[in-house]
Amino acid sequence: MAIRTVGVLGCGLMGSGIAQVAAAAGYTTIVREVNDTALQAGLGRIKKFLADGVAKGKVTEDAQNKTLANLTGTTSTADLKQCDIIIEAIVENLDEKRAIYQAVEAVAGPDAIIASNTSSLCITELASATNRPDRFGGLHFFNPVPLMKLVEVIPALTTSEETQQALTSFATSLGKEPIAAPDRPGFIVNRLLVPYLLDAIREYERGLGTIDDIDKGMKLGCGYPMGPFTLLDFVGLDTTYYIANIMFEEFREPRFAPPPLLKRMVLAGYHGRKTKRGFYTY
Ligand code: 3HC
Repeated sequence: MAIRTVGVLGCGLMGSGIAQVAAAAGYTTIVREVNDTALQAGLGRIKKFLADGVAKGKVTEDAQNKTLANLTGTTSTADLKQCDIIIEAIVENLDEKRAIYQAVEAVAGPDAIIASNTSSLCITELASATNRPDRFGGLHFFNPVPLMKLVEVIPALTTSEETQQALTSFATSLGKEPIAAPDRPGFIVNRLLVPYLLDAIREYERGLGTIDDIDKGMKLGCGYPMGPFTLLDFVGLDTTYYIANIMFEEFREPRFAPPPLLKRMVLAGYHGRKTKRGFYTY
């Protein structure tokens, strides 16, 4: 299962990061978006990240040029024909994922592996929507993808041992640290992280402290890079709410239930940094 060419579906925040690290690792990388505007925005994000890296002395100009030379953008799924692995990082919507898998499988070779970066959907359900449930698995990256070292590798009930190994080795080849995680809502990291974030909101509502003080407490008291409210704004309140609902639906445990304030902030459109308003204003 030699992987040479990598396809990425979606060039949003996660897809662009995944395409960037694949291209930086030397893979011929083709990233597909629905339209040219979204594609140019995603490619622009990659170019800016690399340029900032060069300015900070973290990325060499040579590495920047090689990464960009390995990367192609497209709006056509047909261009993913030669890919040995296709990583899907589109919106968290089962029907849209099913549709894109069908489109990709119409052109991809029979041995190509398909992986999903989903943070909330059931990997076994996604695998069963393809004609290769044994060559399908979860490959869950963390935001910001170029900086976060972890990748969760999640086998569906149907994933072959060979595919799980190929996905694990692939993650390592990107300079990441893979861990095996179960196909249960939240996998490992979100399963522990999301209740912590929800708890911060619940306790804030009960008057535990100000947003600033709770953030400062966890940042300086525990050495976390971000306090819970900064992290909620960073991850997205809508994303957290979505994941929490899926976890609550599956486990029916109160610790996964989204607190009323989170629900109302999402309904008000306060989704965090991306909408310029969340627990903080940007
Ligand atoms: N290119 C290369 N390197 C860069 C860079 C760039 N463009 N920009 C920054 N860096 C490097 C910096 O030089 C620095 O390196 P150093 O540690 O060797 O000095 C390092 O990356 C950190 O960057 P900064 O100093 O600029 O920024 P911060 O120290 O503020 O860190 C952060 C930013 C990495 C985002 C940090 O705040 C952090 O780790 N936050 C938590 C993020 C997190 O928890 N993410 C997971 C969210 S959950 C998720 O994604 C799952 C999903 O399913 C919800």
